[in-house]
Amino acid sequence: MQVKRWPMALLLAMTTAGAHAGQNDFDIATNPFTASFPAAIADNGAHWRAEVLLKQLTLDEKLQLIHSKYQMSDVPNGGAGFIQGVPRLGIPDLNMVDSATGSGSTQLPSTTFPATIALAASWDRHLAYAFGAQIAKQLRAQGFGMGLGGGTNLAREARGGRMFEYLGEDPVLAGEMLASRTIATQNSKVIATIKHYVGNEQEHNRMGGNDTIDERTLRELYLLPFEIAARAGRPGNVMCSYNRINGTYACENPHVLTDVLKNEWGFQGQVQSDWGAAHSTAPAINAGLDEEEDVGPTVYLTPALVRQALQSHQITEARLDDMVRRKLYVMIRTGIMDDPPKAGGAIDFPAATAFTQAAEEQSLVLLKNDNAQLPLAAASLKRIAVIGGHADAAVITGGGSGDTRHPVTGAFAGCGGLTFGTSTGCNWWPNPWITLNVPIVKAIQQLAPTAQVSFAGNSDQQSPFRAYTQQEIDQATTLAAQSDVAIVVVTQPSGEDFGELQSLALSNPSNQDQLVEAVAKANPHTIVVIESGNPVLMPWKDQVQAIVEAWYPGEGGGQAIANVLFGKVNPSGKLPVTFPARDQDTPTWGQDGTFPNDPVYAEKLDMGYRWYDAKNITPLFEFGYGLSYTHFSYSGLSVRKAPDHTLIASFTVKNDGHMAGAEVPQVYLGVNYNGEPPKRLVGWHKVYLNPGEARQVNVVIPERFQSIWDTSGNKWKYVPGSAVYVGASSRDIRLQSR
Ligand code: BGC
Repeated sequence: MQVKRWPMALLLAMTTAGAHAGQNDFDIATNPFTASFPAAIADNGAHWRAEVLLKQLTLDEKLQLIHSKYQMSDVPNGGAGFIQGVPRLGIPDLNMVDSATGSGSTQLPSTTFPATIALAASWDRHLAYAFGAQIAKQLRAQGFGMGLGGGTNLAREARGGRMFEYLGEDPVLAGEMLASRTIATQNSKVIATIKHYVGNEQEHNRMGGNDTIDERTLRELYLLPFEIAARAGRPGNVMCSYNRINGTYACENPHVLTDVLKNEWGFQGQVQSDWGAAHSTAPAINAGLDEEEDVGPTVYLTPALVRQALQSHQITEARLDDMVRRKLYVMIRTGIMDDPPKAGGAIDFPAATAFTQAAEEQSLVLLKNDNAQLPLAAASLKRIAVIGGHADAAVITGGGSGDTRHPVTGAFAGCGGLTFGTSTGCNWWPNPWITLNVPIVKAIQQLAPTAQVSFAGNSDQQSPFRAYTQQEIDQATTLAAQSDVAIVVVTQPSGEDFGELQSLALSNPSNQDQLVEAVAKANPHTIVVIESGNPVLMPWKDQVQAIVEAWYPGEGGGQAIANVLFGKVNPSGKLPVTFPARDQDTPTWGQDGTFPNDPVYAEKLDMGYRWYDAKNITPLFEFGYGLSYTHFSYSGLSVRKAPDHTLIASFTVKNDGHMAGAEVPQVYLGVNYNGEPPKRLVGWHKVYLNPGEARQVNVVIPERFQSIWDTSGNKWKYVPGSAVYVGASSRDIRLQSR
């Protein structure tokens, strides 16, 4: 087997601009807190041009540029928002659309990429870059100049309804992956958005819950991915969220919008309200909101209301100019002003599907593999049973604005009741314009041409998530008993606006655990493939031989899953979230798992793996965990300190197994300071190694990642002399230095 590297065509698509922060083994520019940006020179021109344009705008035109005057149903090309341009000055219209996992246009065909939680599981900054570029290419071809993907709320709530749209539980992993995606999006001439700023970690009471978060926790956890992405990725757009933070709505919160984002981080782009997240005119504008999307009936930044606020001196003309200037500047800097996208561009759907497959192949996480059950050897298998999860027809996606939403993409009538506008949680076979996507069963048959591949499970096209009947379970176990190997596919649907999962137990269909247990009794070679956006509980973990987490795998997912099962691809994903053993073990479960209307972040810094480490709770599978078909050894850690406190951790990783593969060595820091958890992730690098090959890895740890937020001084404080750990996961620590 060959090392699974990027296909050449995909590499070319990444362009040389992929040489961004953190890409190299050893690259001092990994430090988003000290890096100086070459683009700054070009920026002066953009600022100057924005100023010249601003001076020529009438008041009416300025007011038009800060408010999307259309309802979503009226937005051209099925987008989500629209700002009308000023043709007499050459300012084009700006059409925007959701783009978490591909274009969310409700009218135009789009490719469905793996969920972004899968992207995080790849731990591959190159992939994050390519992911951003690929989606942006489709957005431009559809006429969209702004993408609304880029969610990076942290996975504090393991049952979070939108976790699939985010990048996991660690702020550095999430921030750096998002920075790469952001740079790629804007290099492709589409304005990137990072969202939902900030503290939008739950769906329950989503339009107004009040988070209580102390400043240190906010800085060290929930603001940090935004800070990294804002500094290193320089997005044009930050979307403020629905929730309140310590009593004040995010979209009228001067602390997070102006003090932190604009003043401290030097953010020069615009702040846009989530759809319906503005709650006032003057307070929001004065706090730092620059644009509102009109989703009616309550709107606050309409021309009439802003004009009134000006006349009554509740806002200044200077502040209005600042709002407009930011938009003009971003349009100029990203190239939209001079080269606006036009709808009707060609999209190479087969190439995009191939990309989604390659992306998913980097993201699948092998959780268990007893007795080297995987990879399967096709030649030795006569009968293969594939059971459940609609593996004969489709893979599942998350629902809501984070899904692709062309009305004809749904293979099924609904997704267990998860419908959102024209979206469903289930996609897209058969699909008229995509020829390359292959359901799991078909992909397996192609890889094992001499075996008989049979499917059993729920094939009800109307109600794909009803519980399995006893008859279906019996048929599945009979098939499993007659087969050499049984592959059970389980699914966990989730989506925006449906609240959280009630439990991490597989719920929809409700009796999937029973199905797995029954199959495992019938066949000692049972493999489980999970399609989910969240961690799942696995009461059957000890009864099966192998487990693969495939996330919501996107439209190339069927082939990618089969390729991993049969060893055409050596899995290399690592968990970006902790998989707990029980619901009760999660930091937000409390007494009985009820979701509070107003969440109190009482666990403070002990969130995600930090919680399990601090409380000494053994998870089912820890953050950073993932197996390979080969084995890697670690040696020779040395840690050097630069005069500016930057640490450079150097060590060697060797593939001492028999297959080519990729490893993600992770560097953690134990910061010895009151209130800090045992360790935090401060860097990583994904290395591709042939059998016997060794590579020195150098990870740069900026001073900031060694610092704590000092509440008394209201500033970051460097904490020297902490322990450095290098591991294959957050708990599989292989090297340590003090
Ligand atoms: C979601 C955003 C999305 C917007 C536009 C909102 O309900 O929270 O993430 O970008 O809708 O579709």
